[in-house]
Amino acid sequence: MAKLGIIGAGHVGEIVAYTRALRGGFTHITLHDIDDKRLDGVVSDLEDAQGFYPHNTRFIAGTIEDVATSDMIVVCAGRIPEDGQRRNEYTGNYADVKDYIPKVMAAGFKGIFVVVTNPCDAIAYRVWELSSLDSTRVIGSGTALDSERSRTILAREFNVSPNNVHSMMLGEHGDSQFLPYSQVTVNDIPLKRYLEEHDIPLDRAELEKSVVYRGHRAFFGKGSTQYGIANTVNTILDAVLYDEKKILQVSALHNGEYGVEDVYVSTPCVIGKNGIEEIVELDLTDEERKKYTDSAEMIRSYLV
Ligand SMILES: NC(=O)c1ccc[n+]([C@@H]2O[C@H](COP(=O)([O-])OP(=O)(O)OC[C@H]3O[C@@H](n4cnc5c(N)ncnc54)[C@H](O)[C@@H]3O)[C@@H](O)[C@H]2O)c1
Repeated sequence: MAKLGIIGAGHVGEIVAYTRALRGGFTHITLHDIDDKRLDGVVSDLEDAQGFYPHNTRFIAGTIEDVATSDMIVVCAGRIPEDGQRRNEYTGNYADVKDYIPKVMAAGFKGIFVVVTNPCDAIAYRVWELSSLDSTRVIGSGTALDSERSRTILAREFNVSPNNVHSMMLGEHGDSQFLPYSQVTVNDIPLKRYLEEHDIPLDRAELEKSVVYRGHRAFFGKGSTQYGIANTVNTILDAVLYDEKKILQVSALHNGEYGVEDVYVSTPCVIGKNGIEEIVELDLTDEERKKYTDSAEMIRSYLV
């Protein structure tokens, strides 16, 4: 009888709830938003599809204290500034989490947070700090979404299934993230060999850029992004719910990995019932390692 809480019933929160109900696994989904009218509308609309979900799911328009009774909470409340600048977004969103995370904790929350609110690495750090939970129980969605994007874009480039591409984005969920080409395989062979054997030219920098700016493209095109992130969040929720021990590129508090300390940044992590159960430090090239530490410093710069 697992229960899910969602803080923020905007574009992301609504579709996280919908895709969750389609997957099942949570008997209760409690949504909370400061906009009561929107919250009521979202919950009513989700309820209207009740007969089409594979399992009964009870939707609740709740207070922040109601959300705290959940086993897992997705943090996706936010104010996105019109200029789309992450630094400005941080200021407003940090002020909000400073208000509601202590309330969630005071109401007895003992579960696991998945932090989506941007800039999600810095906000995950603040949620961890404000909650006093073990850092393993605060997961930033990080570059899990960007990693999916990299697989999709590389697969399209090579006309193979995304499942045949092993690829990821590391670092900040933001402009300083990077694609570690040393880790990429296509059809289970290293990228370099694949390109040679298929005589394919690849503009690595251009392709990486198209992944990094994919979110901007969607956001400035339609004013929101939600399908990719909602399904990514649900993959993280599944990994915890079913104790999958699954590798996902999520944002985790570093304690010396890659020489990085005291900052949330994305690298592959093993996700299971206890949250972030292992942080994997990859064998990166020197150049990639430098990009990683630079990206971590970029995240740190939000926090000061
Ligand atoms: N990490 C990722 O990969 C990723 C992807 C997409 C969006 N996001 C982020 O997720 C957040 C939400 O995006 P969105 O498109 O749903 O935005 P949105 O504007 O559609 O919805 C945000 C919702 O949060 C609510 N809200 C604001 N302050 C609140 C508070 N203090 N308590 C409760 N509710 C509050 C608003 O009323 C609104 O309904 C943003 O920070 C966005 O940048 C992250």
